[in-house]
Amino acid sequence: MEGTKKTRLEVIRLSEDEKSVIILDQTRLPNHEEYFTISDAESAWNAIKLLQVRGAPAIGVFAGYAMYMLAQKMTEKPFDEFKEEFREQARYLNSSRPTAVNLSWALKRQVALVDSYDGTETAEIVRMVGEEAAKIDDENAEMSRRIAEHGVTLVKDGDGILTHCNAGYLACLGYGTATAPIYYGTEQGMKFHVFSDETRPLLQGARLTSYELARAGIDVTLICDSMASIVMKSGAVDAVFVGCDRIAANGDFANKIGTSGVAILAKHYGIPFYTLGPSSTIDFDTPTGDDIHIEERDPREIKEMWYSEPMALEEVHSYNPSFDVTDHELVTGIVTENGIAWPPFEENLKKLNMK
Ligand code: MRU
Repeated sequence: MEGTKKTRLEVIRLSEDEKSVIILDQTRLPNHEEYFTISDAESAWNAIKLLQVRGAPAIGVFAGYAMYMLAQKMTEKPFDEFKEEFREQARYLNSSRPTAVNLSWALKRQVALVDSYDGTETAEIVRMVGEEAAKIDDENAEMSRRIAEHGVTLVKDGDGILTHCNAGYLACLGYGTATAPIYYGTEQGMKFHVFSDETRPLLQGARLTSYELARAGIDVTLICDSMASIVMKSGAVDAVFVGCDRIAANGDFANKIGTSGVAILAKHYGIPFYTLGPSSTIDFDTPTGDDIHIEERDPREIKEMWYSEPMALEEVHSYNPSFDVTDHELVTGIVTENGIAWPPFEENLKKLNMK
């Protein structure tokens, strides 16, 4: 990771006394590189809800550390009381955003650790929660590296790659997920040309993806979401790489709103379309994309955010689903740290997760 590491910002870390979690405030990028200190449950909930920390894997890592930060405040409590409150705090954080499975996955992992503890020393289990948070973080970095190694086999030097939203290191740490083959291939001397959809309404592609790739010296062109078709038709795109927030057992997956449209276009133009994410994003309890709960956000994000004046009349209704579901039939392959799953996904995702 050396080549591009120098140019990266740190995204999540514990404070020196380990009583707070410090995050890069992603709502302030690209113009302000500011850090925000979180020391209580409410600010942790808000940080996830308001997208100060965002992207499925990063939310999972953050949740792991946030539970440690909260556990530290309860060190003096008798273990039974600690356990009850710890579970309650996890339930509370889990209510901040519904779609990305990584949030509930990391919270469940911390709660399971506490539930399985057979001692009575609160201080000891708090320490173990801290170790588990660091483990989730380390595993995530390893996951990203392995996704990079698998993903790079899908592209060749000189390829044009289109991506949607931000599944780079800001969202996933390490090399990111959708960007992992791009960073890794670049380190091996390959050159890519990346097209970054701006990603309305919250502009993660403009504010975050083009920012982090440009900062790393990668050739990136920002386009409006509505321009993906003309760019694909021109022959400039050899592959589409996107992230994922939840993959259903049949291979349907939720990702940032607009992803399914990109997949439909890619199919039309015969361009391979891949989603890349940690195996923890596969939710075998969710049979198909129809069972994924899609977060709906404040319509003001469409009408007012980023503008000095509202861009639609007050009385105009707007609808702001934050994610959509891409049908598995549009997906060429699913890349996880365990390898690449090809259709039929129902069968091959299970096999991949057994590795
Ligand atoms: O609402 P966001 O910015 O958290 O949405 C992020 C995405 O949809 C990403 O593509 C996704 O989390 C997959 S990889 C980080």
